This record gives sequence, C-alpha cells and structure tokens, in this order.
Amino acid sequence: MDYKEILWSPVRIGNHECINRFFAQPMECVDSDTEGNPTERTYRRYENLYKGNFGFVDLEAITVTNESRARKTQLEIMPRNEKPLAKFIKHLKSIHPKVKIVFQLTHSGEISEPEFSRRVTVKPIYGKGGDLLTEEEVDHIIDQFVLSSKIAQAAGADGIDLKFCHGYLGSQILRPYNDRKWKYGGAWENRSRFAYDLMERIRKGVNDKNFLIGSKVSVWEGFPGGCGSAGPDSPLMDLTESIDLLKGLEARGASYFVESLGNVHASMNYMEAVQDEPYLAYLHFYFANMMKQALKPETVVIGSSFSPFRGKKNKLLFIAPGKSSLFAMGARCISDGMMDMIGLGRQSFADPFTPLKLKEGREEEIKYCTQCMNCEELMIRQQPVGCVAFNKSYAELFKEIRKTMGKLTELHT
Ligand SMILES: Cc1cc2nc3c(=O)[nH]c(=O)nc-3n(C[C@H](O)[C@H](O)[C@H](O)COP(=O)(O)O)c2cc1C
Repeated sequence: MDYKEILWSPVRIGNHECINRFFAQPMECVDSDTEGNPTERTYRRYENLYKGNFGFVDLEAITVTNESRARKTQLEIMPRNEKPLAKFIKHLKSIHPKVKIVFQLTHSGEISEPEFSRRVTVKPIYGKGGDLLTEEEVDHIIDQFVLSSKIAQAAGADGIDLKFCHGYLGSQILRPYNDRKWKYGGAWENRSRFAYDLMERIRKGVNDKNFLIGSKVSVWEGFPGGCGSAGPDSPLMDLTESIDLLKGLEARGASYFVESLGNVHASMNYMEAVQDEPYLAYLHFYFANMMKQALKPETVVIGSSFSPFRGKKNKLLFIAPGKSSLFAMGARCISDGMMDMIGLGRQSFADPFTPLKLKEGREEEIKYCTQCMNCEELMIRQQPVGCVAFNKSYAELFKEIRKTMGKLTELHT
C-alpha cells in the first residue's frame, strides 16, 4: 500500500469510525470571548480543519474553571458555555458530519497565570509556586471535570480528552514530585487516584457507551521528579507508572490515547521539536510504540511530533527525502504497528487542508510548518494564535506585537 492508501484508511475508535488517520492535535489559540466562548476566529480555525478533512479533531485545552487558567481568553466549559458550544458543534457537524470531535478538558494548576487568575499547586515547585490545594479543593475539581464532561456531551461532542500532559494539573498530581502526604500524593495509589476516580466518575456521569474518553499523556515529562521519572527528585527515567496509568485508564473505559512528552515550562523541546532538532521527533515514536505494545490492540494510539517531517524538504539527515516526508513517515509508523493515527499540531496551523490535499492529489500545494515557533510566541504573549508564516492576519499581528513588545527572551510559559 502506498502512503495515501494507509493514511486515508478508516480506523475505529470505540463505537466510532474515523474516515482517515489524521488527528488534529489540540492547539490552544487564545481567541475566546471574555466568557470563554468561541469567537469568529475560533469558528474559522475549526471550520478549516473540518473542510480540510481531519478524521479526528481534538478541541484545544478548554478549561473546566475560569478561576485558575493559563490563558486570558481561553475556551471555557462551564454551564454558561453550553449553548454557545452546542451552536459551535452543530455548525462544524454541518460542514462534515463524519469528522469526530473531542474536547480536551483541562485545569492549569501551577501553570495558571497569576496576572488574571489563581495559581494553585499540589506541591510548590522551584520557579512556579502557587496556593497549596487542599483535598476538598481537588475533590471539587473532580466535580468540575465531571460537570464539564456532561456539558461536552450535551453540546454534541463525540467525547473528551483528559489532559494529563505538558505539566498542567493532571500531570502535576501524577508526577513522583508530588510526594506530599495527602489523599492525592505520596504513594502511586494516591497520585493515580485523581485520574482513576475522574475516569470512573465521568463514565458513570455521562453513562453513554458511544461517548469517547481518552487522554493525552506526557509519558515522560523530562525533568527530575516529573512524570515517568524514578522518584520525587530523580533524573532517571522509569516508565512503570506511566504504563500503569495507561492500563488503568484503559481498564476504566478509555478508548484512545495521544502520546506526548515534556512540560511547557521545564522541557519544551520534548513537546515541540524545534527547527534545529527535528530528530527529537523520533523519541516520540519510541514512546508511542511502547504505548501500543502495552495496551489492547483495539485501543487507539495517536502519535505526535510529525510537523518537523514536512514535505520532502526537511532537516532530517541520513534518510532519503522520499522516506522522511511527513506522509511517508506517518504511513510507515502506522504500517509498522507503532501507532494507529498521526497527530498534526503546528502543521494543522500551516495548512489545515493537509489531509484533503493528499486525498485529491494536490500534495504540491501543501504549505509545510517551518517550526519558526512564532505561533508559540503569540500564545505565550496571550495573543490570538495562528500560523505566522502562511496566514496574513497572524503575520500582521505578530509584526505588531514584536514592534510594541520586542523579542521574547525565553520561549516557555
Ligand atoms: C501554539 C500551540 C498551542 C498548543 N496547545 C496545546 C493544547 O491546547 N493542548 C495540548 O495537549 N497540546 C498543545 N500543544 C502541543 C501540540 O498539540 C503538539 O503536541 C506539539 O505541537 C507537537 O506536535 P507538532 O510537531 O505537530 O506541532 C500546543 C502547541 C502549540 C505550538
């Protein structure tokens, strides 16, 4: 089979079928209105992903509370947002009824921005801090996630993605660094309680076999004491707990997982391979394969970090262009059984029509992500996010921001 046949073959997730193997990664774009509802910009972005024929779309990190959040104009999922979200989903489904969409539910915890919200922590970490969360507060956060899941269901989403990656609250609780002696810390049994209780409560709360529940997980956070390390301050990788988490969530009804690595503050490049380090993408394949081997064959594993592969012009060495392009590499990863779908993050900004153009034989027209990281800079600066390289309106915004605010010195939150 050639790569087009592989990438355009359908795949089952739970009781759903995706039309192809393209997954639009959750990508925060800081463009909601003041109540956390989608705006014109949000509509345009997702319309394009639907028109571009991504088989499976993950709606960017949508916060279950506006009390603690990372972005000033972040999408929110609280009772007041139900109607606007329902309208939004209805509109998207009218564009392409077969495209599946899940909402990535999140709480930002220690990544919350104190300038406009409350930074909270399970155990203060060097360089961040925040108010120490009590057991009752975490119990309440679980209630908020369950409520948000029901809102997602009522709004017409096909499911949810529980965000256990990149250092947001889900990962903060799980990581060995959380050795505080409390209901949600210390022994793995306590650190995994949040994830497992959440999963069980949501399954029961939505009570619908067709409602997809999955999770994007940083299987290795990439700093001492982070998820996937051997102890509270250990720099050594140990994936025992990460594998247990995946299996534990699967046993409780998760039907898909998105592989990820890293942390937005401490180890950004593991999350998003930058221009001069495209080979970091290979690390992701190792972890996706590990997930695939650990889980049941029917559980869908989605791989990450495909943007650096681009077309036939990339910076990968020792490999012929025909084999290292995004499509060739993606199809290879699927046919070798390392993963079931390929996730496109920054590439979905550069060209949301990537899957459709492949299907229609218009590969030459595809615009490939340059990993310039200007989208990331817009996000860090709390501005609406999009592709600065190929979208004029974001290019102009970026120029303006650089003029008024100067160059960003550090590219992390
Ligand atoms: C501007 C921006 C926003 C992002 N927002 C999210 C998000 O909301 N949730 C998430 O899990 N990952 C988020 N990510 C990470 C991507 O989903 C993805 O994992 C990462 O960019 C690697 O994929 P890529 O090489 O295809 O870009 C974001 C990345 C960028 C650059």
